[in-house]
Amino acid sequence: MRGLFNKDVLFFGGKGGVGKTTCASATALAASRAGKRVLLVSTDPAHSTSDIFERKITADPTEISPSLHAMEIDATTESQRYVKGVKAHIAELFGHAILKEANRQIDLAATMPGAEEVALFDRMGGLIRGEDDRFDLIVFDTAPTGHTLRLIRMPELMEAWIKALSRSRRAMLGIEQDDKTDPIMITLNERLERLRLLRARLVSGRTTGFVLVLIPERLPIEETARAIEQLDEVGVKVGTLVLNRVLPAMTQDSFLAARRRQEDVYLKEIDQRFAAHRIIRVPQLESDVYGLAALDRISALLTATDLNGRALS
Ligand SMILES: Nc1ncnc2c1ncn2[C@@H]1O[C@H](COP(=O)(O)OP(=O)(O)O)[C@@H](O)[C@H]1O
Ligand SMILES: [Mg+2]
Repeated sequence: MRGLFNKDVLFFGGKGGVGKTTCASATALAASRAGKRVLLVSTDPAHSTSDIFERKITADPTEISPSLHAMEIDATTESQRYVKGVKAHIAELFGHAILKEANRQIDLAATMPGAEEVALFDRMGGLIRGEDDRFDLIVFDTAPTGHTLRLIRMPELMEAWIKALSRSRRAMLGIEQDDKTDPIMITLNERLERLRLLRARLVSGRTTGFVLVLIPERLPIEETARAIEQLDEVGVKVGTLVLNRVLPAMTQDSFLAARRRQEDVYLKEIDQRFAAHRIIRVPQLESDVYGLAALDRISALLTATDLNGRALS
C-alpha cells in the first residue's frame, strides 16, 4: 500500500457498502501521516467522508488533520459553478451585446442529460491535472464503477465533440486552417489539450493508481471481475485489491465458524481469480469505522501486510 503513496492520484472503487470511503479515508490519512500533502475528494453523492471524519466537509478543500484536506463535490453544485464560469468567460470574450442570448443558450445546455456529470468531471479533471499545487496526492472516493469508466471515456467523447465544433467554427469563418487569433478556436484547442493531458494521466500507472475494494461475497466478486475487465478495455490497469471485512479464522462461535467456512470458499476463489493483483486483506472490526483513531487502525492494517503477511514497505 505504501507504493501507492508515491502516485499523484488514487481512485478507490467498488460496489456500494464494501468500504470504499473507509479505505480511501484511511489511505489518505496514512499518506498524510507519512509526510505527503493529501487531498481526499468524495464524489459519491452519498458523501460519507463528513460522517467518518465527524465534521462538515464542503466543496472546497478544508484541512481536517495536519497535511490532510478533504472536499465533497457533487454534480448539481459543480454544474452551477461551471455554468457561472462559462457565462463569465463568454461575457469577457464578447462583451455584453450578445450576453442575453448566450446565457439563454447556456442555461438550456445545462439542462441537457449528462450536463451535470460533465461539470463534475471538469472539476475532477482540474484536480487530476494538478491545478491545485498544494497537494502531492489526491485520493478519490468514488461512486460505483460506471462513474469512473465514464470519466475515463470523457476525454475521448469530448475530443470528438470539440473537433466537430472546431470544424463548424472554421466553416463559419470561411477558413481551412485554425485561426490562431480566434478566441473561440483558442478556447477549443486549450480544452482539447487539457482533455488529452487528463486522459494521459488517468491511464498512466506511474501517476495514477486504481484500487478496487471488495468483500468476500458473491456479488462484489463478480462486480470486481467486471470492473477490472472494463477498466482494462479503456487502458487502465487495476493493481491493488482491498479485500475488506474478512472474518477471523479462529472462532469459538458456531455461527461465526459456519460463516467463515462459507467465506473460505470465496477467499480461495478470490486468490485464484485475481492472482495477477496484489490483494490486501482487512479484517472485519468489531464496530463501524468512525473518527481518526479507528481510521488509523484501518490504515495500519492496510499498510502493514499483504495477503502473505509480507510487509508492504
Ligand atoms: N473492516 C471493517 N470492519 C468493520 N466495519 C467496517 C469495515 N470497513 C467498513 N466498515 C463499515 O461498513 C460501512 C460501509 O463502509 P463504507 O466505507 O461507507 O462503504 P462504501 O463507501 O463502499 O459505501 C460503514 O459503516 C463502515 O464503518
Ligand atoms: Mg462511500
